[in-house]
Amino acid sequence: MSKLENKVAIVTGAASGIGLACAQRYAAEGATVVGIDKNLSPQWQSVESTAAQSRFHQLDVTDAAAQNAAIRATVDEFGRIDILVTAAGVGAGGPVSMLDEADWDRVIDINLKGTFLSIKAVLDTMMAQRSGSIITVASVEGVNGTEGGSAYNASKGGVILLSKNVAIDYGRLGVRCNAICPGFIKTPMFDQIMGQMPELQADVIRETKLGRLGAPEEIAGAAYFLASDDASYVTGQTLVVDGGYTAGHSHGIVQMLGLV
Ligand SMILES: NC(=O)c1ccc[n+]([C@@H]2O[C@H](COP(=O)([O-])OP(=O)(O)OC[C@H]3O[C@@H](n4cnc5c(N)ncnc54)[C@H](O)[C@@H]3O)[C@@H](O)[C@H]2O)c1
Repeated sequence: MSKLENKVAIVTGAASGIGLACAQRYAAEGATVVGIDKNLSPQWQSVESTAAQSRFHQLDVTDAAAQNAAIRATVDEFGRIDILVTAAGVGAGGPVSMLDEADWDRVIDINLKGTFLSIKAVLDTMMAQRSGSIITVASVEGVNGTEGGSAYNASKGGVILLSKNVAIDYGRLGVRCNAICPGFIKTPMFDQIMGQMPELQADVIRETKLGRLGAPEEIAGAAYFLASDDASYVTGQTLVVDGGYTAGHSHGIVQMLGLV
């Protein structure tokens, strides 16, 4: 029996990149998958064709009423929620003196408040079940500062601490919550931001100890582990999946020595 058979998973940001890869993986592992995104995507078809059952709700995660209605509809139809992945997010920022208040608000609203609203929407159901796995998608940029990061880093740092607090508050009610911190993953968001900066992209790859960008499926693998019963004693953790980007600095010594 597949490990996610009979489980119901909700994935935000499911139309693209990391969220889509999580939805595809959960579908392949036998789950019923409910996607939430502000955009529709032809790739959702791949989830529909493999999931036990699937639904898609087109909505903005900052719209609490719309999101609550989608979660209610999920519970009414499928009777439970076992997994929530919050992957809806946007990347934007800039040095503080150059960042408009409206841009700050947009990033914090979607990345941090949107995550809060998604978690809030599923908690009653998970508490009543006395089980559930919440997986937030933060970032290595929520662990360390990044040049020009500001709003994005603040939002992701907030997501990490919010996830720990949810783990603390709801652990005794059977609800686990962990944050995944991806490094640099080749998704439409990455291409949109880094596509215009090839030198920065090369620099990121140089600092990534595996010497390459990550694939969305490699984040979905971590999200699968955290959703599964194999992670039944894992909560309140920050799982960094970054190809070694944050392991420490490399200065080319192993190349100089001819090791690689
Ligand atoms: N790609 C990376 O290198 C990387 C690294 C670290 C963290 N992340 C995080 O992973 C998550 C997914 O990013 P991705 O790279 O797959 O990007 P992506 O742009 O490919 O996917 C993000 C999805 O979120 C949706 N979305 C954005 N705002 C929304 C809103 N208000 N309501 C509903 N849906 C909304 C988009 O429509 C899109 O489908 C984001 O939270 C991002 O910050 C990405």
